[in-house]
Amino acid sequence: MKHKLCDLSDVPLEGSILVPFFGREVHIYRAGNSYRAAANICLHFGGPLECKDGHFVCPWHGASYGMASGERLSGPAPKTSKLMFLSTEVDETALYYIWAD
Ligand code: FES
Repeated sequence: MKHKLCDLSDVPLEGSILVPFFGREVHIYRAGNSYRAAANICLHFGGPLECKDGHFVCPWHGASYGMASGERLSGPAPKTSKLMFLSTEVDETALYYIWAD
């Protein structure tokens, strides 16, 4: 099964776009030659994430995360926590969330 997240042409060369995802939001961005889709949820208390200077930062208490790995870099989120990434695939024009039945 798959669900379209966005057109590839909508993804900026730097930073991310936020797209709706079943009542929540997902950051879509480029990582090298691929695309990533990370849930817009801080792993401390669920705050939103802002894309700043190549990192995700939570404005609630300052946790930061690497965009490529999703790993927590600093702040009050658990040291080994990692952002939630969606499984995705692309075709010629769009990025999709994919899951098995
Ligand atoms: S909810 Fe994100 S740092 Fe606290």
